[in-house]
Amino acid sequence: MTSKPSASVHAPILVRVTHCSPQHADILHAQGTHQNNNEKRGWCHPPFTLGYDFAGIVADVCPGAVEGDDHGLKKGDRVFGASIGAFAEFTSVKAATVRKVPRGVSSEAACAMAGQAVSYAAVVHVARVRKGETALISGASGGLGSACCAVAKAVGARVVALAGDERKAEAMRRDMGVDVVVMDEERHWIDEVKRLTDGKGVDVVLDNTGMVNPAIQSLAYGGRIIVLGFAARKGKMEAVKMNRLLLKSATVTGYRFGESGRQSPEKLEEIWKGYLGMMESGELKPILYGSYKGLEDIGRALGDLEARKVYGKIVVKISDDEEKPKL
Ligand SMILES: NC(=O)c1ccc[n+]([C@@H]2O[C@H](COP(=O)([O-])OP(=O)(O)OC[C@H]3O[C@@H](n4cnc5c(N)ncnc54)[C@H](OP(=O)(O)O)[C@@H]3O)[C@@H](O)[C@H]2O)c1
Repeated sequence: MTSKPSASVHAPILVRVTHCSPQHADILHAQGTHQNNNEKRGWCHPPFTLGYDFAGIVADVCPGAVEGDDHGLKKGDRVFGASIGAFAEFTSVKAATVRKVPRGVSSEAACAMAGQAVSYAAVVHVARVRKGETALISGASGGLGSACCAVAKAVGARVVALAGDERKAEAMRRDMGVDVVVMDEERHWIDEVKRLTDGKGVDVVLDNTGMVNPAIQSLAYGGRIIVLGFAARKGKMEAVKMNRLLLKSATVTGYRFGESGRQSPEKLEEIWKGYLGMMESGELKPILYGSYKGLEDIGRALGDLEARKVYGKIVVKISDDEEKPKL
């Protein structure tokens, strides 16, 4: 008979994982190419358990938990969060890394949204997207990109989403209710973005893939670009044409969610409040992709993500989200 692991004072909340969700960073971690794996500056070195985003049930709260660090969590609470080690039956986490699943939201949906508070932060706090503006979102079929689309729509912006192929674009038009432009190597897609904005260009670009040069070309005068990720760059960064920034009076802002939360915990709380509010009100719903079950399906899930088959979020069901009867 195997016994359940127990929580430790350092990671005082033990969660029985019911769902987990792979994201781009998991692929980088699996390949050892994420910035966190850097030998000198990184903190994540083998052996470690892969995975960030999860939802689950609190199985144990360490009695020695740091006072004020338990967020009022108790055994049996449904929680979700993002913390390394999520592709497992149990994960031991700091209380600050989990939140209670909002009322009316399924554990599956919460898991899909666990790592996407960055979308709310980027759209509302960093880009300050306003009603009536047009936002262009790259990597819009991805986990972060699809959440950015939903938040931008919720604040009243018009969204132009970029997709890698027509199959995904069709599904995104249907399920996300956004304009979708399919990218092509010759960059005719920039003309299409211009056409959709009557030649003016977009007010804001939320860049998840690493495309600042084409973002500048797609931008209206005085527009802003928020750099969120480099999903398409395979570690090779762009050289940005600075003269084009000047000519457009454009602003480029980088945003790193994890670090900004560490630097400014009060701001982080404000972000979570707004994000959870949008989830509770139903303004923010994940797009769920495919059907995946059990830890043995994680490899297939990561493979599908890497092959760019996915639009929205894969959620892998690990166990039931109701307590099993004792007998
Ligand atoms: N700034 C932050 O704090 C923060 C937080 C979380 C994540 N991120 C970063 O944001 C980016 C997106 O993360 P995610 O979890 O949303 O990833 P994801 O679910 O894998 O989505 C990435 C999307 O990028 C597009 N893409 C274009 N070229 C690609 C390529 N060569 N390889 C892979 N994807 C490509 C894909 O859409 P198409 O196939 O339709 O083109 C894909 O759907 C990543 O770089 C991640 O590290 C940043």
